[in-house]
Amino acid sequence: MENANSAKVVIRSIEESDVSAIVEIEEKNLGIKRNQYWKRELRKNKEGRFLGSCVAEIEGNVIGFILGDIGSREFGMPENMGWIHTIGVHPDYQHKGIARALFDDYRKRFLKLDVDTIYTIVSLSDNMQLPFFEKIGFRPGNRIYLEFDTKNEVPKADKLADYDFRRIM
Ligand SMILES: CC(C)(COP(=O)(O)OP(=O)(O)OC[C@H]1O[C@@H](n2cnc3c(N)ncnc32)[C@H](O)[C@@H]1OP(=O)(O)O)[C@@H](O)C(=O)NCCC(=O)NCCS
Repeated sequence: MENANSAKVVIRSIEESDVSAIVEIEEKNLGIKRNQYWKRELRKNKEGRFLGSCVAEIEGNVIGFILGDIGSREFGMPENMGWIHTIGVHPDYQHKGIARALFDDYRKRFLKLDVDTIYTIVSLSDNMQLPFFEKIGFRPGNRIYLEFDTKNEVPKADKLADYDFRRIM
């Protein structure tokens, strides 16, 4: 890929040694520093956990990353499914096609593994991620994500079936 200010962008598999670069990018983007989280997560990669997860580099410097994994029929899922847990690009390199390139590569790897669908969770109020995922072709699926509040009781009258899901979509 040659469109990020004409410098050559290399996409390669994510490695444990990428932790500090990823933590720095995430801190610049989100204002949080998750050293331990990333160390722990990337250690799991040794078991092949984050199949397809990659970083984008320019001249040896990591400027973006995509982290996800794969679930399949062997775990009782109805289809071979891929996940994107997180994707991030250094602010100096955003809007240059880096995340799209990371995703295109990810998609190709998953296609070879016979993945039918790739899932991700995005907040409806996230005006950065939502338009990005929409642009690269993600659409609302026909499953919903449910959450459980561990601290507060749900009013007994509340029923899942009462919700108007079309309104939520
Ligand atoms: C969201 C993010 C990953 C996009 O990365 P990027 O490299 O700038 O995205 P790209 O340049 O590849 O953009 C791909 C398409 O999405 C569009 N897009 C990207 N960010 C957008 C935004 N904030 N609003 C609207 N459209 C956007 C681009 O215009 C482009 O469309 P086009 O190909 O038709 O021109 C990046 O902005 C980022 O890291 N954000 C902060 C971290 C974050 O929120 N990460 C997700 C945590 S899970």
